[in-house]
Amino acid sequence: MEREKKYIKTILIDSDDEEALKDAAEHLRNGEVVGFPTETVYGLGCDAGNGDAVKRVFEAKGRPADNPLICHIADKEQIKDIVSEITPLAQKLIDSFMPGPITIVMKKSDSVSRLTTAGLDTVGVRMPSHPVANRFLRYCGVPVAAPSANLSGRPSPTGARSVLEDMDGYIYAVIDGGDSEFGLESTVVDCTGKEPVILRPGAVTRADIDRVLQDGVTVVSSTLDNGETPRSPGMKYRHYAPFAQVEIMRMPEGTKITGDDAAGSDGRIVRGSFKAEDLKKLTDEEAKELVNIASPFILRSREILSKNPFARIGLYCGDEIKAMYDKLNDKILSAHTEFCAYGRTTDVSCASHWLFEGLRFLDVQEVDVILAQGFDGEGLSVAYMNRLTKASGKKEELTPGMPAPARPVRTPLPIDAFKDTSTASVLFVDDNNISLSACCESLMRLMLEKNEPYISNTEDDTGFEIYCESAGLTAMDGMDPDPDMDKAVRELTGLGMNSIESRRANPAVYDCNDLILTVRDEQAFAIVKAFPEIKDKVFSLSTFAAANGLVMKDSSGRVMSISVPDPSGENYETYLHTAKALNAWLELLFPYILKELGASRV
Ligand code: TXA
Ligand code: MG
Repeated sequence: MEREKKYIKTILIDSDDEEALKDAAEHLRNGEVVGFPTETVYGLGCDAGNGDAVKRVFEAKGRPADNPLICHIADKEQIKDIVSEITPLAQKLIDSFMPGPITIVMKKSDSVSRLTTAGLDTVGVRMPSHPVANRFLRYCGVPVAAPSANLSGRPSPTGARSVLEDMDGYIYAVIDGGDSEFGLESTVVDCTGKEPVILRPGAVTRADIDRVLQDGVTVVSSTLDNGETPRSPGMKYRHYAPFAQVEIMRMPEGTKITGDDAAGSDGRIVRGSFKAEDLKKLTDEEAKELVNIASPFILRSREILSKNPFARIGLYCGDEIKAMYDKLNDKILSAHTEFCAYGRTTDVSCASHWLFEGLRFLDVQEVDVILAQGFDGEGLSVAYMNRLTKASGKKEELTPGMPAPARPVRTPLPIDAFKDTSTASVLFVDDNNISLSACCESLMRLMLEKNEPYISNTEDDTGFEIYCESAGLTAMDGMDPDPDMDKAVRELTGLGMNSIESRRANPAVYDCNDLILTVRDEQAFAIVKAFPEIKDKVFSLSTFAAANGLVMKDSSGRVMSISVPDPSGENYETYLHTAKALNAWLELLFPYILKELGASRV
């Protein structure tokens, strides 16, 4: 199904704005699609009785039409309108778990559009416990059909920003209700038979359901074996796929998992509270366990890097593992690793809460592979591993006809979306500052702009502004760029360098930059020789690459040193070639430059 933009921008609604909430509900009743928060993940809601509106949801999501939507309600009274029969078994689960992270599949009534249920005669019913969802659904006054608000095949969104990432312009509005508490979609239970069948594991666990059932009745877990017709059509599709390949790192057997009583989460979901210095506080026993959990990450990372020195690795792991990396202080390993640390390592509710956001964040960092913490055991671990295993499916296993996951399209956030802002700056240095360093400055400025906004690597709520300038060791002040280089940059980027004027490098310029990159090795040596106290922030392009483990080898395995040609006095083709070479260098170094400055893309 073709995806078509309907709006210039999707409206972002503050959940405290009661009037805006009512307006969104009215638009939904009139056939529009509205994103809304729930305690599991964000949903993409429409009027379940309006076939055209339902079609719009399938279209916005790029979802195959044979995968049904579930109906969301604000009041248990609404159930009898959408189902033809509530069995005693269903009633028991309704009484025990609604409102909450559960979807109960029952026989449908005629009031629900067949498009909603994809032609099935059953319907999934869900009553979210999220207060904003409840208020919104009440204003809607009709059952709201809603799948998770992600583009089909992508990780489900657990924050309004992620909904916009996938849906901006495709839906009328999204209501911002903060982070979803659980972070994984609801448990789907089929109650149309004698025994309940768990079609999708979630925060309401098998043990939770077993606890409330009558004697003799047990829960059946449904798995999708080869050739079996799926009872839940969603099961046959590959889900939660980030762009990068995902590998699961297992915990050693017997590791004690905490946070399994997810229903009743109590502010445990804090990230970054554990720092490298806290490692000292661990008992010997705890420290040993941690080493065992961290080792697979470190070994696998080194293995990947030994095969491909350019690989970029994302880690979805606990805070303690990140702390161990910090302590290890392996420059190359760190330079190639992007972290999303979810909180305490063995806490499965933290890992679940951040999983989808983590996969999305690591995708934005453009890593090649994501190593993600696995959990063994029952309870919430089952739901977590269900999603992670699907996310780790091989790319080739994509169902034909399903769109391949696209690199996320970033919606630039205004810098005032962050509580604080930090700044950092990078300086390019050459001899005369009218050609190579000026070219680097121009190209870098464009790269920085294209990848905005940035966030601090250490403070979650701090936005990062990154600047870039250039100077020359022997430059005269105020000269225009070399016309041939100007032309080459224009050919490469569509933009000229006219805003750049040459200037002489000096200690004051060095002082206000956090990273200094020279075009040639000898220029970096000259700066360090004159000002040894700034040696830690001065590199040439090639020593910066080498310091980050980016070594290029020729066909016989010898390390190649890369030199940038000097085009001055040569023909225009040489300038163009040089500008292209510098662009390739900077694109390669860009993520490492961000890292050196302490920033990440968001
Ligand atoms: O937590 C959730 O359930 C979220 C929030 C927004 O409520 N919604 C959600 O919807 O995850 P969706 O469409 O992404 O996943 C619903 C799953 C799909 O795998 C679908 O195949 C299955 O439930 N499902 C829906 N109706 C069904 C039915 N009548 N019989 C069997 N499976 C059904
Ligand atoms: Mg979904």
